[in-house]
Amino acid sequence: MEKLVSLAKRRGFVFQSSEIYGGLGSVWDYGPLGVELKKNLIEQWWRSMVREREDIEGVESAILMHPKVWEASGHVSSFTDPLVDCRQCKKRFRADDERIKGKPGEESAQCPVCGSKGTLTEPRMFNLMFKTFIGPVEDAASQVFLRPETAQGSYVNFLNVMQSSRQKIPFGIAQVGKAFRNEITPGNFIFRTREFEQMEMQYFVKPGEDEEWFEYWHEERMRWHYGLGINPDKLRYHPHGPDELAHYAKRAEDIQYQFPFGWQEYEGIHNRTDFDLSRHQEYSGKKLQYLDPATKDRFTPYVVETALGVGRLFLVVMADAYREEEVEGAPRVVLGLHPSIAPVKVGIFPLVKKDGMPELARNIYKELQRLFAVFYDDGGSIGRRYRRQDEAGTPFGVTVDGQSMTDDTVTVRDRDTLEQERVSVDQLATYLTERLRP
Ligand code: GAP
Repeated sequence: MEKLVSLAKRRGFVFQSSEIYGGLGSVWDYGPLGVELKKNLIEQWWRSMVREREDIEGVESAILMHPKVWEASGHVSSFTDPLVDCRQCKKRFRADDERIKGKPGEESAQCPVCGSKGTLTEPRMFNLMFKTFIGPVEDAASQVFLRPETAQGSYVNFLNVMQSSRQKIPFGIAQVGKAFRNEITPGNFIFRTREFEQMEMQYFVKPGEDEEWFEYWHEERMRWHYGLGINPDKLRYHPHGPDELAHYAKRAEDIQYQFPFGWQEYEGIHNRTDFDLSRHQEYSGKKLQYLDPATKDRFTPYVVETALGVGRLFLVVMADAYREEEVEGAPRVVLGLHPSIAPVKVGIFPLVKKDGMPELARNIYKELQRLFAVFYDDGGSIGRRYRRQDEAGTPFGVTVDGQSMTDDTVTVRDRDTLEQERVSVDQLATYLTERLRP
């Protein structure tokens, strides 16, 4: 994990937020390569969930919502973690922190940081939503929350989307956006953060058909992860037991990945029943129902949700792609990212900075730039330039050499096989496009 974190910083994938001020706890920034990788992941998800489907529409709701939304959703009363404080060192922990010896509140319980005994308080429930204020007055009436999930923005727009897009049940609403949780024990790099991005889809179905749709999305989502080239041996389902179910869920399953720190969830599939729509109906007084045009049945739809964290998916693909190997006696670090998500698709290198090679390489760069993300590099030995792109996950390297100047061909190096093929410059765009297709 440390090696991955170090590569992420070295190559400009992820930086600590406000690093020059010592950082901000569990908040991260994405650098030049990171932002490209993140955009590619979002793009792949959006394409498969929205553009390639007739039954799913996209929305982008605001982060700030009417405070009643969070009362209706149950987040004000139930989105809590049990917390304990140490009266001695003033540190705060989750009550179920494995490092705590004994039962918090009792004399024998020991603080995991300062080691004092009997100083841990009884657990208190702590709400994970961040609060802020709308307008100039900071009082209870102007208090709003930063959303802890994007889902509610899709529920409150259920009627708007259904009516404007003329969708019929079953149909879905997809959304990508920021969410915020004041996590007590964040950590493991970008795995658990206080500000993060979600890609969530709410699929509205007829009650009674929810189990069937749950099975459908269970299969469909795993298939999507396989398509990103993630090692299937490191993926598994984890069905939630009764004590793990969120307050809104009848049934839930995680898709887990075997991270260097163990098996952990990165996507959830939830049967949320009619909980959310019914509650919004009750709190807003607006009918959030569906009239079946065929049967004339009126019902409140059930929801099957797929909820994926962008940052967690980012960590999965990075961890899965990272490998160290030896090539001709020298160590090599490679990010074997699937070409469809690699931040840079092609590195372009003149072998030397003379004899017209930089000019031809620049022309190729300009031509390919219109098609995909490319990177021009003429600094240092060709071996070092290849290694830098291997670490960045760039699937192909195009080198302009002496022969290029006589026969208009270049070499194309494959990041994984290390094989080099000669391709004529006028065929290069077609050659690469075929190999980069998702
Ligand atoms: N709308 C349902 C929902 O939010 P969740 O299981 O709490 O369900 C869904 O979150 C996904 O969002 C998780 O599987 C994870 O990928 C991501 N996520 C949740 N909390 C996170 C955090 N603190 N940091 C990073 N990602 C998080």
